[in-house]
Amino acid sequence: MATLKLENIFKSFGETEVLKDISLNIDDKEFVVFVGPSGCGKTTLLRIICGLEEATSGNVFIDEEDVSNAQPVDRGISMVFQSYALYPHLSVFENIAFPLRVAKINEAELKERVDRAAEILQLTDRLDFKPGQLSGGQRQRVAIGRSIVRNPRVFLFDEPLSNLDAALRGDMRVELAKLHQNLKTTMVYVTHDQIEAMTMADKIVVLNDGVVQQFGAPMELYHHPRTKFVAGFIGHPKMNFLTTTSTVVDGSELKVNIGEETISLPVETGQTKSGDIIELGIRPEDLVLSSDNQGLSMNVEVVEHIGATAIIYGTAAGNDDFCTVLPGDTLIHPGETISLSIDPSKCHAFDSQGIALHRKQAAEVS
Ligand SMILES: Nc1ncnc2c1ncn2[C@@H]1O[C@H](COP(=O)(O)OP(=O)(O)O)[C@@H](O)[C@H]1O
Ligand SMILES: [Mg+2]
Repeated sequence: MATLKLENIFKSFGETEVLKDISLNIDDKEFVVFVGPSGCGKTTLLRIICGLEEATSGNVFIDEEDVSNAQPVDRGISMVFQSYALYPHLSVFENIAFPLRVAKINEAELKERVDRAAEILQLTDRLDFKPGQLSGGQRQRVAIGRSIVRNPRVFLFDEPLSNLDAALRGDMRVELAKLHQNLKTTMVYVTHDQIEAMTMADKIVVLNDGVVQQFGAPMELYHHPRTKFVAGFIGHPKMNFLTTTSTVVDGSELKVNIGEETISLPVETGQTKSGDIIELGIRPEDLVLSSDNQGLSMNVEVVEHIGATAIIYGTAAGNDDFCTVLPGDTLIHPGETISLSIDPSKCHAFDSQGIALHRKQAAEVS
């Protein structure tokens, strides 16, 4: 078993502060994905966890033991990188066995551990091959095998699928999810791809600019993003944002105007006053084609038929990057104007700092 705790981690390179007070508690056997845009500090944080980089301040605990000053080899952590750097002249078997040879593990145990890893990763019939004879996905699995044989307490993955094509990435997502179920080991996986995060994680950490924006289960982040950044980052296609002005009515009801529409938002009003700027967020999939031409008017520019759904791009309420997802058989053409009805209970509201306004409890929403 292995829990992983980060406590007030700060990291600066010279004058540049890249991690700002990161604290996280990761449970035993959890699959946690760190997701965020390129440059937000994901790799730096992984390197601090495994000991390849020293934090400027803060502590790393594995199973409650402070390992902040422990050598990488003594932490029981294994890291798989984006560039999997296999030895081209060695067989798959020897590539996987490499860390065990370095640790001078006896031949019988070495063979048993490599065979078991190969079985889990479906590489048994490839053990005599050289890396050059393998597909990209198989090579990545060899790199993972090299980590598995060390029986680490925690696995770290740094964007391991970025070099693979889209179809293979999809397959490998499923493989990694199965691997986690098989090994039941704590895993931390870094990616800039929110779809990888949503599909694989027990919990997601959204990082931006060296700060944890939110830590929670995928659907919690989807339904209750705490910041505009998380709202825009999680979900595909991205959430639409409309800038509007709030009107607080009778001290208890918050109304905003969108195009010709006035809608009443199910949020607590104490956080805003009339005249404040509100960013209203609506997910493309939460909009419905209105049957009576009432609602938000959208000028359609591009229609993408995916099959089950059609993704419609265009302009609405001054946002020229507006998007909606409608049933696949919907007949809509570029140049048309459509009307969309908005369900206020599906709307998200953010203040001018990008902080989500608290929703009213369900019972209070009329
Ligand atoms: N060794 C280093 N020296 C100076 N700056 C660094 C170093 N490593 C990373 N950085 C900077 O820290 C920031 C975060 O980098 P990184 O952790 O690699 O981000 P990510 O993995 O999220 O793309 C970047 O601005 C990067 O340029
Ligand atoms: Mg990185």
